[in-house]
Amino acid sequence: MNAPLLTAHNVTAGYGRIEILHDVSLEVRSGEIVSIIGPNGAGKSTTFKTIVGFLEPWTGRILFNGEDITGLRPDLVLRRGLAYVPQGRIVLPQMTVLENLEMGAYIETDRGRIAEAFERVYALFPILSERRKQRAGTMSGGEQQMVAIARALMTTPRLILLDEPSLGLSPKYVSLIFEKLVEMQRAGYTLTLVEQNAARALAIADRAYVLELGRNRFEGTGPRLLSDPEVKQLYLGG
Ligand SMILES: Nc1ncnc2c1ncn2[C@@H]1O[C@H](COP(=O)(O)OP(=O)(O)O)[C@@H](O)[C@H]1O
Ligand SMILES: [Mg+2]
Repeated sequence: MNAPLLTAHNVTAGYGRIEILHDVSLEVRSGEIVSIIGPNGAGKSTTFKTIVGFLEPWTGRILFNGEDITGLRPDLVLRRGLAYVPQGRIVLPQMTVLENLEMGAYIETDRGRIAEAFERVYALFPILSERRKQRAGTMSGGEQQMVAIARALMTTPRLILLDEPSLGLSPKYVSLIFEKLVEMQRAGYTLTLVEQNAARALAIADRAYVLELGRNRFEGTGPRLLSDPEVKQLYLGG
């Protein structure tokens, strides 16, 4: 079996002196969709922030693509091929879609690679190609989320971490975003997502983790967790 693409091993981290993550561990293999679910405040976003270098772990190890990235700066983590789409579909509202995507490619200097990235991204999100001249701030929430995701793809990452990609979207866009995540996997991307929409996140997941109070609580394949009576009762509304 191949080595995992990402391994977080017994990660402890927090804010100030308050410990939030207590020995959190997870693994992502190339080609997978891995979902992380759990109640509000469980430490899901903190886990992502620690993996991508916005928070330094107190203890534990983070390995990516065979290399130790524990405590590495976010821009250097990105250069290693690990992209992060933070919660809140953050776009540059005054800039056009095209300019937002160009910003996403800022670490890329090879024009040919940037052109290829645009092709791949526009193939996945044709609407962004149609709207390339539109200011991002004038788009709907769901469209802005596509811009935020597409921007992360401009570096052609090996792994993309998405924090709550469907949060606050209308039902139509929630469905569309989940469809896009599956399309991205089919196109060869490896995805890890944090989601409050637990049922849908498990439905598309190859494997999933449940975090609670900063600890690993359950893990398994998406289908197994989806049908687990305890998981159902606790996290899927019975
Ligand atoms: N910047 C911060 N400073 C202090 N505490 C924080 C900060 N961000 C999150 N927390 C706390 O860390 C805990 C986990 O938060 P978070 O990782 O955002 O949870 P989740 O994403 O699972 O909802 C919560 O108790 C939250 O209040
Ligand atoms: Mg969160």
